[in-house]
Amino acid sequence: MIAKPDVVTEPGQKATCLPGGLRHVGVIMDGNGRWAQARGLSRTEGHRHGLDSLRRMIRHSVAIGLRFVTVYSFSSENWNRPETEVSFLMALLRRFVQRDLSEIHQANVKIRVIGDRETLEPGIRQLLVDAEELTRDNTGMTLVVAFNYGSRDEITRAVRTLAKKVEAGQINPVDITGDMIGEELDTAGIPDPDLIIRTSGEMRLSNFLMWQAAYSEFYFCQCHWPDFDEVEFDRALADYAGRERRFGGLKAKAL
Ligand code: IPE
Ligand code: IPE
Ligand code: MG
Repeated sequence: MIAKPDVVTEPGQKATCLPGGLRHVGVIMDGNGRWAQARGLSRTEGHRHGLDSLRRMIRHSVAIGLRFVTVYSFSSENWNRPETEVSFLMALLRRFVQRDLSEIHQANVKIRVIGDRETLEPGIRQLLVDAEELTRDNTGMTLVVAFNYGSRDEITRAVRTLAKKVEAGQINPVDITGDMIGEELDTAGIPDPDLIIRTSGEMRLSNFLMWQAAYSEFYFCQCHWPDFDEVEFDRALADYAGRERRFGGLKAKAL
């Protein structure tokens, strides 16, 4: 069971126990395939173990009082993988929602899905809608699942929506602000990630939260996603605690 967090905060409030006002962690769960290959297993075995790792991370995030966790589960470019692997990943999402949803709901976690749903199979689309519906009034952590997600696609869709509003005469192009763009993104209403963790040694965003990560801190670790545990997570949070975020300004003591 996922334990209820010690520190209960309402949405919008800061969890006071976390360093540097840390509220939102984004995770690029990478390295499932390499983890499996290093053990002579199939890549799909790696994804299976990756799901265990995800469960562990959600439980830990709830326990320490994080407000938002965004997990990169399937990118808009992951369709370029062999059909068997893509089908397996779709089945894994189904399994995750079907098996874990009640536990997630009981832990007062709200689910939000970002990414393009239109191109997903209707059954999966419905499953995601149902998960969001069931948990919509939960007031604990928000688990943002990035599925069939890519920043370029997200921004393109947002631009289309704004262009339609311009076409309809609802807004004037000169009045478009960054905030208005943010409100058209899938992540509308979700604070930008404070910290983005990527496992498996790759040091790139791979189309993850490019707009939202403008001032995020980054943490890269060598371990593959299936090996990512509470100790690794705490290590990332401790590293974040030592960072100084300036957002283009100056250190408080320099003012
Ligand atoms: C991350 O692991 C999971 C997904 C992208 C769905 P990978 O499958 O990318 O594993 P590597 O990077 O090939 O080892
Ligand atoms: C990013 O990992 C996508 C997910 C973790 C879901 P990839 O493995 O797809 O990224 P690249 O291809 O190495 O950049
Ligand atoms: Mg990868």
